[in-house]
Amino acid sequence: MDATATQSRDQNDAPPSANSGKSVPASQAMKTIEHVSPMRWASGSSTDKIKITKISHMRYRHPAGNIDSIVTFLLDFGMEVVKRTDTAIWFGGYGIDQYVYYCEIGDDKKFLGGTWEVESWEDLQRAETLGNTKIVELKDSPGGGHIVTVHDPEGFPVNFIYGATPRPAPIKQPAEALQVNDEFSKPRKGAFQRFEPGPAAVHKLGHFGLTIHDFESQFKWYTSHFNLVPSDILYVPDENGNKRDVAAFLHVDLGKAYTDHHSFFFSVAKEKHVHHSSYEVHDYDSQNMGHYWLKEKGYKPVWGLGRHKLGSQIFDYWWDPNGFMVEHYIDGDLVNEDTPAGRQPAGDESLAVWSEPVPSTFLD
Ligand SMILES: [Fe+2]
Repeated sequence: MDATATQSRDQNDAPPSANSGKSVPASQAMKTIEHVSPMRWASGSSTDKIKITKISHMRYRHPAGNIDSIVTFLLDFGMEVVKRTDTAIWFGGYGIDQYVYYCEIGDDKKFLGGTWEVESWEDLQRAETLGNTKIVELKDSPGGGHIVTVHDPEGFPVNFIYGATPRPAPIKQPAEALQVNDEFSKPRKGAFQRFEPGPAAVHKLGHFGLTIHDFESQFKWYTSHFNLVPSDILYVPDENGNKRDVAAFLHVDLGKAYTDHHSFFFSVAKEKHVHHSSYEVHDYDSQNMGHYWLKEKGYKPVWGLGRHKLGSQIFDYWWDPNGFMVEHYIDGDLVNEDTPAGRQPAGDESLAVWSEPVPSTFLD
């Protein structure tokens, strides 16, 4: 064995503790973590805010010149083509959303923003007043509806949709969970695990994120206009030792109803750009089979698999052929209005419980 590859341990050292994992209530998990007061995002009472009900879909433009490679990639990533015209393609998952990814076919590649579903026509009209463009009817889109695009303080497009008809039911019924035998509990008796290789079928859009420059102006805009609330905030110490917030993971505040730990995040970085969008898949086996499917096809991995600390998801990040990052995730945390918002130091260790070391391309 290569002596440099292992860390020697003195015979008198205590043996390492075995790893462990368990699900604990949020209040317990966050016992030693600073809690953020709701005053941090309380500008405007909640009734004044434009009410988002969920994240709906992502919008990107891809160049016509290599559109076939994007289609092939997204099919290998586990989406389906729901509709295609000369100028656009709608990609769906198997959940109730008609589509999770809108691809405009154009001259260049461009991030066209995430899309939030709002509760009412009035909410959509109020969103319209935040920008300079008008509400547009989505005549070609599966499910229809109306959309408006505004821009956040850093110029990122942000879309709002209302009136789109969802599918009456998911197009794939919930798969029965695998029976898993552990060392003590062996419910699977006389039955075998059998799998079919293929892409990890996408269920829904889970979240997306941006790298930004001005944390405070972005935080204020998103949390004062909309019911977006931080689940976690990360800070770095400034030159005076004060805590300067640099990243936030935000969920859609639905009161007592539980919602994904984050549907959106932003993080201060050198370059401003969309960081990634993330899509939920079924379970750990389907995620892994999807990983090896993409690997076999020769696509470029970014980072994964691993398990995030904030939000707990098991992640797997990939580059699409045009350099946009997309993620498969499973097993995310759910939060509601009773879940405390946490604040802790930014650092690589806040990114993953287990994984390969985070690559620099992920942090750019
Ligand atoms: Fe993510």
